[in-house]
Amino acid sequence: MNKKTVRDVEWAGKRALVRVDFNVPQDEAGNVTDDTRIRAALPTIRYLLEQGANGVVLMSHLGRPKGKVNPKYSMRPVVERLFELLPEAQEVRKTEAITGEAAEAAAAALQPGVVLMLENTRFDPREEKNDPAMAEELSRLGDVFVNDAFGAAHRANASTEGVAHFLPAVAGFLLEKELEYIGGALEHPKHPFVTIIGGAKISDKIGVIENLLGKVDALLIGGGMANTFLLAEGKAMGDSLVEQESLAVARDLIAKARAANVRLLLPVDAIIADAFSADAQTQVVSVDAVPAGWRVLDIGPATVEQYRAEIAGAQLVIWNGPMGVFEMEPFAAGTRAIASAMADAAARGATTIVGGGDSVAAVEQAGLAEQMSHVSTGGGASLELLEGKILPGVAALQDK
Ligand code: 3PG
Repeated sequence: MNKKTVRDVEWAGKRALVRVDFNVPQDEAGNVTDDTRIRAALPTIRYLLEQGANGVVLMSHLGRPKGKVNPKYSMRPVVERLFELLPEAQEVRKTEAITGEAAEAAAAALQPGVVLMLENTRFDPREEKNDPAMAEELSRLGDVFVNDAFGAAHRANASTEGVAHFLPAVAGFLLEKELEYIGGALEHPKHPFVTIIGGAKISDKIGVIENLLGKVDALLIGGGMANTFLLAEGKAMGDSLVEQESLAVARDLIAKARAANVRLLLPVDAIIADAFSADAQTQVVSVDAVPAGWRVLDIGPATVEQYRAEIAGAQLVIWNGPMGVFEMEPFAAGTRAIASAMADAAARGATTIVGGGDSVAAVEQAGLAEQMSHVSTGGGASLELLEGKILPGVAALQDK
């Protein structure tokens, strides 16, 4: 990575203004139900405390409050969890303010060892407009801007991109790690390089597939999007989810894969159901035999074996998107099998990277997250990296 990081700053006497992605899931009562993103930002916060920064100001968005103050999206429960996770901090404070006099006074009152969390940056309508006035106001809260919000780095917002134009701006450890894993894998891939792409729609993944076609040895397709590929090959898909409008795209991608000498693998069998329900009747059929009135909801066991063999022979595996409707137990086996094949691959020394919200949830549900080389904290951000895009929150940081 050619960007400066927190290691390139002499922190004593300087206040750090850190963008984190604490956009975490919560239950109805507001309790944080998954603190992965908070824990992922701790190495940077701890480092700043250890290096004697003159206070650490944290900013994040939470949910999509659309520029209005909404108590449902307050950072309060997040601060409570952060406090539990960060016993090293002398104090973790919270302010209702984001910018302006109150925020500036709260920031100015910080001392080494003290952390201050601002209120949800998206309570301010200027945040998502990347308004330079808001960015400048935020910049008054610190001496150096640190971006550690990988999950929000694809958003050009005032707190992710705009503020970097008003302060010296460097990357935090999480941002650095994500870019090194995902960016590094794409720039200097180890071979055989296998990617598994799933999820409901081809239209969401065209950019990813096109970018990967120039790099990978094999592309394994699953999830609802596989149905559209199979339909494009002339197979009847019954009542399965298909994108009629993407049939030409699917044919084009198959042709491009052939031209690039990439093996594009489609499911050979499927678990089908007579309704979109966990109680539906199910059966395993060849993809040539999906009856009318039935729908494909997972890859079948023969496909699992093929995909498992591909992953077993790979040195680099990147996975984005589930193979089936894994939220329902009868259709979770395909997704779980990919997770376990990747864990086995990692155990024998291959690099395994899981990027994207749903596949991360599946790996966590399977209890295999710890066994992967890297599980990304970014959904949209990792997808954009896989598409080969430059993330605005990264581009704005200082070059090394
Ligand atoms: C995410 O959860 O992917 C990031 O926090 C970005 O959130 P957003 O999609 O609401 O911008």
